[in-house]
Amino acid sequence: MTFTAQNTAQAREKNQSHRPKEENAKTDEQHDAFKWYWMSCIFALLITMYLHNSWRTTEIPDHLIGHTSRFYPEFITEETRIELVELVKSMQIFKTLNKDTVPVNRTYKNVGEAMPILEDGTCSEPFFIPTLDGTQCILPGRYEMNRHWMKYGGLEGLKETYEELTSRIKFFMYARYVFDIKNHPVVKSLFYSEKFIKAAKEICPAHKQVLDPYQFIFILQVPGQTIPIHLDPPYFDRTSRYHIPEWLLIVMIGSGLFKDQMHDHVQGVAYLHEWNTSQNAGNFAYFDKNEIVPSYISPNPRAVMLMDGSKTMHAAALYKTEVKPPLLPETAENELKFNLTDDLWELRSDEKLLKKYKTSELRISIVYRALCFENEDKMKTFHEWIHSGENVQPLEEILEKLKEELVKAKGFSRKSLDTMSKFDLATVLVDEFVKYPLPTNSLFPYNYCFLPTIYPWTESIFKYIC
Ligand SMILES: [Fe+2]
Repeated sequence: MTFTAQNTAQAREKNQSHRPKEENAKTDEQHDAFKWYWMSCIFALLITMYLHNSWRTTEIPDHLIGHTSRFYPEFITEETRIELVELVKSMQIFKTLNKDTVPVNRTYKNVGEAMPILEDGTCSEPFFIPTLDGTQCILPGRYEMNRHWMKYGGLEGLKETYEELTSRIKFFMYARYVFDIKNHPVVKSLFYSEKFIKAAKEICPAHKQVLDPYQFIFILQVPGQTIPIHLDPPYFDRTSRYHIPEWLLIVMIGSGLFKDQMHDHVQGVAYLHEWNTSQNAGNFAYFDKNEIVPSYISPNPRAVMLMDGSKTMHAAALYKTEVKPPLLPETAENELKFNLTDDLWELRSDEKLLKKYKTSELRISIVYRALCFENEDKMKTFHEWIHSGENVQPLEEILEKLKEELVKAKGFSRKSLDTMSKFDLATVLVDEFVKYPLPTNSLFPYNYCFLPTIYPWTESIFKYIC
């Protein structure tokens, strides 16, 4: 010990011996508290690091990675883009999906989870939505997507309430899907351009080179909106969205048990807005590798992304990250209406004007899809079957196959699967077979602000931070 250090130690000892005993005890207590504080911090940090690493491990099944996709930065001409925007304006009214959108002739409208609607027209369980006739509540078509979105807050790991997150994904569309392609020459030109045919055939399997254009949809988004991670509902040999709920089609894809019966398709996502991506984000994201960080492409005007959206998980990142969209209640009629007199889009919820947007402020895209067939005969057979109502795979047969897999590969007891409610069964199927990745950069991936929706007693805790 040096002279100075020795002196200091002696001085401290002297000081302590002169201090009252209570004061010494207090100092020791403070020292202990300080020590425990830091130990807790280090422990919490280690736990967070461990969890962070574990939830960054993705579980995308092998059959859903490595599929061909193509990005073309300048695929459609400027004239076509302008013509499509004019078509959008002429369609004038775009609405959000609120109530159930089950096709009236769907063979199985739900899997048995339907429950009575409440007197005020709402549903008692989170996620459930009223049926079109307003007599019951059932799980929404995209239950698997909505559940993941609410639990994790999407690519960005948002921590927001149910109402806020719902408003972010309620994009606007003219009709759910438009099938009368021939009535819209400019859309028809998208499908029949040599460029599209050549590029689309690269996405279809080599032995399925007959293209069958079958639908398109315009998607309008206001600043602050996004599209959660999802797969697109496919057609199977004996079932489709006209026969069972979409979320079950996605479960079928995820399980890998029905992949030989799935129809291949190619979808183009074309961007029609005027703005450049650098200031607005809203990138198209897709998971072509089994990694938590997706590949991104910029949604620049005239760009097109081509892929089979039933084979590769994809999403749109937040458009204008700093903006929160106006609240769009689930029970309200929400619409974006183009006003020809002032050239502005009016966002209304139950007739109440919430905000006005210029066309240049919107994120506008068109999604157009064509099926891939081996030959004309197979295409004809498919068309004859799809609305015939014949040779439809029974719902029980699908559920049976999935249950067998849950027992064989996931360790579930058959008895528990047979006795649980159909709502619980739907949730088990979604959680076990649909493995959308968790937020890319979030330290804590769970959206705790969703808890008050499931457990109302937690509202008093979370209202201060959410
Ligand atoms: Fe999609």
